Amino acid sequence: MTLQIIAGAQWGDEGKGRIVDWFAASADYAARYNGGDNAGHTVTVGSQVYKMHLVPSGIIHPQVTAVLGNGMVVNPRTLLDEMDMLRRAGVEVSPRRLRLSCFAHLITPAHRALDSALEAARGKGSIGTTGRGIGPAYTDKASRRGLRAGDMLATDFCERIGDHVAETNRTLGLLGAPLLDPAPVCDEYRQYAAALKDYVTDTSLELDAALRAGKTVLAEGAQGTLLDIDFGTYPFVTSSNTTAPGALIGLGLGLNAAAGARVVGVVKAFQTRVGSGPFPTEVGGALAERLRGSGAHPWDEYGTTTGRPRRVGWLDGVLLRYAVRINGISELAVTKLDILSGLETLRLCVAYEAGGRRFEDLERGPAALETFQPVYEELPGWQEDVSACRRWDDLPPAARAYLERIAALCGAPVRLVSVGAEREQMIAVA
Ligand code: GDP
Ligand code: IMO
Ligand code: MG
Repeated sequence: MTLQIIAGAQWGDEGKGRIVDWFAASADYAARYNGGDNAGHTVTVGSQVYKMHLVPSGIIHPQVTAVLGNGMVVNPRTLLDEMDMLRRAGVEVSPRRLRLSCFAHLITPAHRALDSALEAARGKGSIGTTGRGIGPAYTDKASRRGLRAGDMLATDFCERIGDHVAETNRTLGLLGAPLLDPAPVCDEYRQYAAALKDYVTDTSLELDAALRAGKTVLAEGAQGTLLDIDFGTYPFVTSSNTTAPGALIGLGLGLNAAAGARVVGVVKAFQTRVGSGPFPTEVGGALAERLRGSGAHPWDEYGTTTGRPRRVGWLDGVLLRYAVRINGISELAVTKLDILSGLETLRLCVAYEAGGRRFEDLERGPAALETFQPVYEELPGWQEDVSACRRWDDLPPAARAYLERIAALCGAPVRLVSVGAEREQMIAVA
């Protein structure tokens, strides 16, 4: 059995799509286990840039079967658009190689409307959600009134969609938001059901059989550890378990699948966050502009899903050590090392300080982070462009020292180093 879990070790956008693409070259299945189209995963192959929101990034490799797991919340409109986008790019998308779990929950326009209305009602305390209806869809799941992909096959599906819109209208009304007409939503969802019915199946069964047959299953996390509903910077989090253990629940795999699993923590060489919430190592001014980029390159720090500029800062080693523990990360994939080229000095947060005490680890996880001050270690930067490096020894000594310090700080070895957005710009560390 080979389960490989790729999970974000920070606040999302670590470059998971790009790392999944690397592992998918030798995988049989690629499966998303959480979230929905709040995710934006980028894979760059030559001049082709794929931006995936729902379909696992692994689908670009022709031998891979792609699975949208039960832990996801799926907007069928986005899914169908993405399937079309992939087809136009020459990727085969058919029931032969794409599956949608019958237990995945559906997102509707009513969820999206509610997401926006709730954010507006939060005012200054808003979370800065992606507005994709993620929170309301997971709320309906937990309230046991959600609609699942398998329900699309039921004869009373349209009636249930209508009831759901009417029910959500009650809350929208209380929030003073415009109400939705159920009839067009019912029509729309009837068409989606017809278009997607052949993709809906019990994916847990198939993944279990695949693992038993010795196949390789790649579990692709969305968001990142610090956005996990339990272990993130609550309440400034998403509504699912983003961390690696979430792959078991979100794909319907038993604990036996975890034995010997490889858990790859994807970590950007610096820190970013989009949306509200604490960020101890955040920087501003010219340095922020330098790390974020002007927006001229596709990899500059602007959200793949919303286009919002990402907040940026120095790598936080305390939070990374926490991510290694919570996920059970066995190895790191460090991305965007190329962005740090040319900086005189790098700062790395190695501990926090509060009330005259020094903390190497957090006693209450990332709660009340705003009360802690980062303690920095300074390391020399490097001036060389690293984007053409393909072996560990090609990297400048200062870059190697930076990566070695990160590994020592968090207790997980660096196994992959990404030095550019393009598929080939990768160093596999022996
Ligand atoms: P994800 O959500 O974790 O999959 O990450 P995103 O795709 O949202 O954001 C990562 C961005 O950085 C994308 O534009 C990637 O193409 C790009 N990227 C990934 N790795 C590297 C790298 O090593 N160097 C550079 N310059 N860009 C990278
Ligand atoms: P990928 O998979 C970065 C953030 C939002 C907001 C919070 C809650 O591309 O790494 P939600 O819409 O989920 O209710 O928003 O989570 N967020 C992400 N930030 N990358 C993502 O996905 C994100 N998905 C959600 O900005 O702060
Ligand atoms: Mg992203």
